[in-house]
Amino acid sequence: MQRIVSGMRSTGRLHLGHYLGVIKNWVDLQNNNECYYFVADWHALTTKYDDTKNLRQDVVDVVIDWLASGIDPKKSTIYVQSLIPEIAELNIYLSMITPQNWVERDPTLKDMAKILRTKEANNSQISYGLMGYPVLMSADIMMLNADAIPVGIDQVAHIEITRDIVRRFNNIYKTDFFKEPKALLNNCSLICGLDGNKMSKSYNNDIKISDSDEITAKKIMTAITDRSRIRRDDPGHPEDCEVAFKYWKVFGNEEQVNIVKSECVNGQRGCADCKRQLAQLVNSCLKDIREKRKYYEAHLDEVHEIIQEGSNKTRIEAKKILTQVKNIIGMY
Ligand code: TRP
Ligand code: SF4
Repeated sequence: MQRIVSGMRSTGRLHLGHYLGVIKNWVDLQNNNECYYFVADWHALTTKYDDTKNLRQDVVDVVIDWLASGIDPKKSTIYVQSLIPEIAELNIYLSMITPQNWVERDPTLKDMAKILRTKEANNSQISYGLMGYPVLMSADIMMLNADAIPVGIDQVAHIEITRDIVRRFNNIYKTDFFKEPKALLNNCSLICGLDGNKMSKSYNNDIKISDSDEITAKKIMTAITDRSRIRRDDPGHPEDCEVAFKYWKVFGNEEQVNIVKSECVNGQRGCADCKRQLAQLVNSCLKDIREKRKYYEAHLDEVHEIIQEGSNKTRIEAKKILTQVKNIIGMY
């Protein structure tokens, strides 16, 4: 049995990139592992400290999307980062031993900084807290002395820093207390956004788990297809169909994909019809999840209870580990 820890920032309602890229993997892992999944609301604050009106709702929305997607609170522990103050304390100890240039060269952070600078927001400054992003992530992971971290590819650089911090802690304090956690990547191909870029809320190219069938269909109709195609009976090129055909490959079975391909190549399939059909398929794949989501939206008490219970349980474990860490360092 491996101990699995992973989190997501509380960005509000999640999209299919989150579902296919990360959550599905979490769901698979929960049967044979001890899984802890948390909402990283402090990490959300690293960039949204001046825009906190939806912070609480964002946490709830993320948890509802997880539950709807099949994260089972009987198998996995669900918690909220800011309900575990021990993480903040561990973060202090880790920040003492982390060389400044380790966080400065973090490539993911450099990207985030670039995005921040292009925004015309008044928070384009990179805060001290944002610089500490990978250290806080390390505290999340080390707080439970995790074996493995299932994340999307964009988080791997962060996990590398965590491994470095683990080694450094163990070296400095002559211990083997912390395990070097490994990143677990899933093998499913990442779904792109409707415009062909990475799917992201901030690019406005996403399909949310919680979108209605109608909204989903409307969005899919905007998906990019084979740009060289003008008339309905022009032969198409599925491999150049930048978004729609890729979605078919993600959601359709082999037979469906083959039909689309041959009809497209032979000019027997118009892109509008093709996307209408695709929308139906996507909606049918999401049907159960969306129904479950409605259930939890109508039973918010249950959601809050799951969060509280999971956080209480996590805190007990975190306190144990923190006591040991303080002893190892030699605190009063
Ligand atoms: N940085 C992650 C993200 O943006 C969220 C996160 C915070 C996390 N702490 C973590 C993921 C610890 C894995 C382990 O999605
Ligand atoms: Fe893409 Fe379908 Fe149009 Fe072919 S028919 S180019 S697969 S949207």
